[in-house]
Amino acid sequence: MGKYNYDKSALAGLGVGDFLNEVKVREAHIAAAPAEEIKSVYNANILAGRLHPDYQQARIAEIKNEPDAKTFTFVQDDENGTGALAYFRAGQYISAVIEMNGVIITKPYTIASAPKAALGDKNTSYMITVKKSPDGFASEHILNNWKEGDVIMFSQPLGQFYYQDLRDAKNVIAAAGGSGITPFYAMAAAIADGTEDFNLTILYGSRTADSILLKNELAELETKAAGKVKVVHILSDEEKDGYEHGFITAEMIKKYGSGDYSVFACGPKAMMDFLKEETEKLGLPGRRVRFEVPGEFGNPAGTQGYPAEAAGKEYDITVIVRGEETKIKCRSDQTLLDACQMAGIPVTSDCRSGLCGWCHSRLVSGDVFMPESADGRREADKKFGWIHPCAAYPLGSVTMEVFPNV
Ligand code: FES
Repeated sequence: MGKYNYDKSALAGLGVGDFLNEVKVREAHIAAAPAEEIKSVYNANILAGRLHPDYQQARIAEIKNEPDAKTFTFVQDDENGTGALAYFRAGQYISAVIEMNGVIITKPYTIASAPKAALGDKNTSYMITVKKSPDGFASEHILNNWKEGDVIMFSQPLGQFYYQDLRDAKNVIAAAGGSGITPFYAMAAAIADGTEDFNLTILYGSRTADSILLKNELAELETKAAGKVKVVHILSDEEKDGYEHGFITAEMIKKYGSGDYSVFACGPKAMMDFLKEETEKLGLPGRRVRFEVPGEFGNPAGTQGYPAEAAGKEYDITVIVRGEETKIKCRSDQTLLDACQMAGIPVTSDCRSGLCGWCHSRLVSGDVFMPESADGRREADKKFGWIHPCAAYPLGSVTMEVFPNV
């Protein structure tokens, strides 16, 4: 039998000489090439940079006062390197980088304006609404300090809370509370200007008629959308003609939802917890019920699985950044992200809800509690000791390694 016993007729006409010499030829080209970096500009890279900038600089062009809130309109800030703001899907959020008393933190805010306002190479804008919150140190800072002309740094648009016709029904019932109206405002605006094509019924819960955010603007969008957007106001603390009274319940969703519909929910944590139980009563398939990221989990004491003896304690935390150790303190009701940022350690973060993974850090030693509903880690992360410090509470002394990119 010959050395290579196969039918060589299949290779007729194919020379292997070039192929055998390929390595030598390539090495000769490399040796002859100049040492400078190749400067090629590909359209795909330009588009990726426009849609997913690392950070974008935006200037406050207008501030509108709302009940217990302010609505800020931002435009691109050319002078600081942002020629146009990034396009987004109605319902996505951006994270604001906020400097407070020498400490840098990030806070996510949904873009309330229509995506069309951020389309194009110039004259782009975003609108966000910031509501006063009793324990919201960032919202307090923003409402008291941000003024027209200020330049704020934001992340690229993020999040999955937008309409997707492959998954969602053509009819969407939106359950909104307080500033949780903002993603639905953006969706209504996108429907009204023809960017999106689905039917949106917004059940908007507020305490009283006077505390409704963006009330006139919502009414205008309802008119403009010509039957595709309907807004129903529900007042919890007041009974008034023309308004529903009480909370957004399964019964109320059924009253306004007919046939095949999806439910989207966004609002304060207490409302979201309540709605999780109510939406279960609807018997809808999982893909038809969507909850926006809920924001910070808050005090974990009393949560299922939380050890009662950990409540009210303060622990030593060692944080490793690029090989350097810093010692800080963290209360047991405080997240590790919060403690780091308060101590001036710049941990990368966006959603602050445990779900996006941007704060992904390594737990070197110690124990943490991560509430199940805020634990968005992959199974491999859990197995190999990675945590999301925005949703991790210390249960003793902890050493962790963080990887900031700010
Ligand atoms: S900031 Fe999103 S998971 Fe921590």
